[in-house]
Amino acid sequence: ARLAILLSGRGSNMVALVQAVQSGVLSGLAEVAVVFSNKPDAPGLETAAAMGCPTASRSSQGCKRAEFDADVVEVLQQYQPDYVVLAGYMRILSPTFIRAFAGRILNIHPADTHQHQGLHAYEWAFENQLPETKITVHLVDEGLDTGPILAQHPVDLRGTDTLAEVERRGLAVEHRVYAETLAHLIKQAQPVEHGLH
Ligand code: GRF
Repeated sequence: ARLAILLSGRGSNMVALVQAVQSGVLSGLAEVAVVFSNKPDAPGLETAAAMGCPTASRSSQGCKRAEFDADVVEVLQQYQPDYVVLAGYMRILSPTFIRAFAGRILNIHPADTHQHQGLHAYEWAFENQLPETKITVHLVDEGLDTGPILAQHPVDLRGTDTLAEVERRGLAVEHRVYAETLAHLIKQAQPVEHGLH
């Protein structure tokens, strides 16, 4: 399956996904068609290029959402992705975008999306002293962090006393489960092969 990975920032989830494609749970299952950013100077874009991935960007600054998204859809379609994988892509997608890749857009949210949506999920868990948070991988629909959940994984937060520690524990889980969930999804979507195994 061909992946378009979208990011706006540092791209640690992108790195984990690319590593999984190159030598982990996604090897033989997926290839990185493109890493795209709405921020041409996102550190993650440079990292992706250094890891050998095709990259593309368009600046979303000052653009109207619908127009920008129509442009992004056109860019992405050139790479013929089977899945659009949001990895810290800090934009709400317009209906045009969602429809162009309906049922094939994934997001990772560092909280239980039934309990928390939007930004600052680790801060929320930390400030509320949650003993546990849940990393959620879900399909993207037109709402903010509302789409059907594909997988949830608990993160034990007991004994954490800084936000940095909460994030460190959470990200370690994010980096593992995003690739695993995607691998599972791709395997399910593949037609059953006949023959000897
Ligand atoms: C991650 O916590 C992800 O769950 C959220 O945004 C953050 C992106 O981090 N959607 P990174 O750019 O992948 O390091």
